[in-house]
Amino acid sequence: VRNDRESMFLVNEFAQKHFTHTLHNNLDGKAIGLSYFRERGFRDDIIQKFQLGYSLEQRDAFTQAAIRAGYNKEYLVKTGLTLEGDNNYLADRFRGRVMFPVHSLSGKVVAFGGRILKKDDKMAKYVNSPESEIYHKSNELYGIYFAKQSIVKQDRCFLVEGYTDVISMHQSGIENVVASSGTSLTPGQIRLIHRFTENVTVIYDGDAAGIKASIRGIDLLLEEGLNIKVLLLPDGDDPDSFARKTNASDFIEYVERNASDFIRFKTNLLLADAGNDPVKRAGLVLDIVRSISIIPNTAIRGEYVKECSTLLNVEEQMLYYEINKLKTNEQ
Ligand code: CTP
Ligand code: MN
Ligand code: MN
Ligand code: MN
Ligand code: MN
Repeated sequence: VRNDRESMFLVNEFAQKHFTHTLHNNLDGKAIGLSYFRERGFRDDIIQKFQLGYSLEQRDAFTQAAIRAGYNKEYLVKTGLTLEGDNNYLADRFRGRVMFPVHSLSGKVVAFGGRILKKDDKMAKYVNSPESEIYHKSNELYGIYFAKQSIVKQDRCFLVEGYTDVISMHQSGIENVVASSGTSLTPGQIRLIHRFTENVTVIYDGDAAGIKASIRGIDLLLEEGLNIKVLLLPDGDDPDSFARKTNASDFIEYVERNASDFIRFKTNLLLADAGNDPVKRAGLVLDIVRSISIIPNTAIRGEYVKECSTLLNVEEQMLYYEINKLKTNEQ
C-alpha cells in the first residue's frame, strides 16, 4: 500500500506539472505568468529546468483539477496546496502567482513558493508551502538538487537568499548555488552543504536585512567547521540583479576580489558600528572572541586571533584569555 508520504509526493508532482502546463498553455498563464518571467529576463531553457509555473486567480482552479484527476482531498490538504474551510469549502493556497517548486536533494518536489506579480503592500510577496510530513523547511535548501554536482566539482557553495538569485546565477552559468529562502540558516541546512564541500561563500542582499541575516547564520557555519567567506553586494543589489548585469566570469572575479573572510567581515562591521565608544568596543571584542572560540580547528583559531589582535588593537594574550574563559565555562 501507498503511505502518506508517497501520496503527498504524487500530489506535489501533479501540482508542479499543472502549474507548468498552465504557464505554457493557459491564456492567463502565458499573458501574465510567462510574460512576467520573460520580462525578468529568464530564458526558456531556465524556465523549463526549474519547472517554473503559474497558478490561476480562480479560488479553486488547481484543487478542482486535482480532484478531477483522481487525487484524494486528504493529501491536497496535507501538502498545503488546498485550504479547507467549513462546509467542505476548498480553496487553492496559491492563486495568481508565479510558482517556484522546491526540490529535495533527490529531485522530488517537496514544496512550492509563489510570488505575486505586482508590488502590493497588503499581500506577502511570497507565499510558501507549510511544514508537512514531506517538507521540513529547516532541512531543505532551494536549488540543492540542481547544484550538488557543481558544488562538488568547484569545491565551493554559494549561499544566497532567494529563489530568483539561484535561478539567475544558473542562467549566467554559475550552478554551485543554493538559497536559504529568506530565513536564517539552520544546522540541518549547513550539514546538507557540508556533505558536498567545506567552502561556503555567503552572498546576501546589500540591505539591512541581508547584513543581519549573514551575521546570524554564520556562527553556525563556523561551528560546523566550514570555511566561510562573506560578500555584501552594493546596496540595492541582490545576486539576481547583479548576475543579470554581468557574465559568469566577471561575477566570479568580483566575488573573489571582494568577498572577505567571515571573522574579518564581522570585525570590520562591528568596528564601524562601535566607533570610539569604549563600552561598545569591549562588547565587540567579546562578540568576536565568541565567534573565534567556536572554530573547531586550533591552528585556524590561532590565525584569527593574530588577525583580530591587529584589527582590534588588543594583545593576542588578552584574546586567548577570553577564549579560554569561554571554553572553561562551556565545560
Ligand atoms: N521570502 C519569503 N516570503 C516573503 C519574502 C521573502 O519566503 N514574504 C523568501 C523567498 O524565498 C525569497 C527570499 O526570501 O526568495 C528573499 O527575499 P527577497 O530578497 O525579498 O526576494 P527576492 O528573492 O529578491 O525576490 P524578487 O527578486 O522576486 O523580488
Ligand atoms: Mn568536514
Ligand atoms: Mn532582501
Ligand atoms: Mn531580487
Ligand atoms: Mn532579494
